[in-house]
Amino acid sequence: MTDSILHVVGARPNFMKAAPVWRAIAARRRPQVLVHTGQHYDASMSDVFFGQLGLPEPDVNLEVGSASHAVQTARIMTALEPVLLDRRPAMVMVYGDVNSTVAAALVAVKLGIHVAHVEAGLRSRDRTMPEEINRIVTDRVADVLYTPSPDADDNLAAEGVEPARVKLVGNVMIDTLLRLLPAADARWRETWAARCVSPFALVTLHRPSNVDEPATLERIVTALGDISRSVPLLFAVHPRTRERLASLDGRIDRRRVELLEPLGYLDFLALQQKAMFVITDSGGIQEESTVLGVPCITLRENTERPVTITMGTNVLVGRDMTRLCEEVQRVLRGERKPASVPPLWDGRASERIADHLVSIA
Ligand code: UD1
Repeated sequence: MTDSILHVVGARPNFMKAAPVWRAIAARRRPQVLVHTGQHYDASMSDVFFGQLGLPEPDVNLEVGSASHAVQTARIMTALEPVLLDRRPAMVMVYGDVNSTVAAALVAVKLGIHVAHVEAGLRSRDRTMPEEINRIVTDRVADVLYTPSPDADDNLAAEGVEPARVKLVGNVMIDTLLRLLPAADARWRETWAARCVSPFALVTLHRPSNVDEPATLERIVTALGDISRSVPLLFAVHPRTRERLASLDGRIDRRRVELLEPLGYLDFLALQQKAMFVITDSGGIQEESTVLGVPCITLRENTERPVTITMGTNVLVGRDMTRLCEEVQRVLRGERKPASVPPLWDGRASERIADHLVSIA
């Protein structure tokens, strides 16, 4: 066993969570190892984030790529095991709820290596979401559970998790957001200000429940077309969605709905903070928009981030396109939901993690 901290990242939303934790542990001079599973591999889904977020080149890339859930998870497990046997870290850090998270947690815990889960305790109570299964299993096996908000602590307590394993630290994604807002402002001025009409709204969609079923995606595209007649839309298209959208391409008025490649962190943040509102099914964007004070309309029936609704700017409309259009009209009329930033979403969550971690590992 060495005294190193080994971080496992794999998919886009992991990178902005791991970056501030990496920096905070580096400042405490602990040796660290970065493993990229290769779950996301396109430059626009992965490389661009490493540069912008200040993450170093990964020490190891498992290059697992895309596959079914079982195959992808198994590939990560098989490829990670020899790495952990070789490196023998004091702690494996896993982030969020993607397949790389659960796969790494399972491998480490079976080798008797301690696991810390950052963003623990979130629950949508929707077991049709692959992420919900990943969250439940990861929290079940991890030794240390770093939670972003009190609802997560309540969920873990209700599942019988011993309080000693749980530490409320706040939201690491917001550490990255607050640190990089000035750089995103600069990106806005340099790249986007001249080419965006004002106002505009920003769209992202990638959940299987919204994009995998052609009839559902068609209804969403029709609603976006209606909305775009009131306010032009910028749609940053995830690769998963791009394939599915191809058959609907003729239905999209490209003068009012601009389709963009997946954006890097700074470009997306630049657009998000200037948008009149966002329409999304992402988890992280519900949180970021709350901190930015930008209205967020979420195309999901449930959320594992309820604090963004009770305190923040988020509203859920499910797959009800009438409700989506009503919420947009509300924003256009200037009817803003009163909103505030949740406690501990203050830019210092990773410092709290690092302080705790070096005291136990
Ligand atoms: C994954 C996460 C999801 C997260 C999302 C953010 C799981 C179960 N899901 O979903 O929680 O919100 O990342 O993006 O881990 N693809 C590419 N290039 C890439 C990566 C993917 O073209 O670099 C395409 C492939 O066709 C692939 C599909 O996207 O089959 C889906 O990728 P996958 O990693 O399985 O899931 P995401 O939908 O990205």
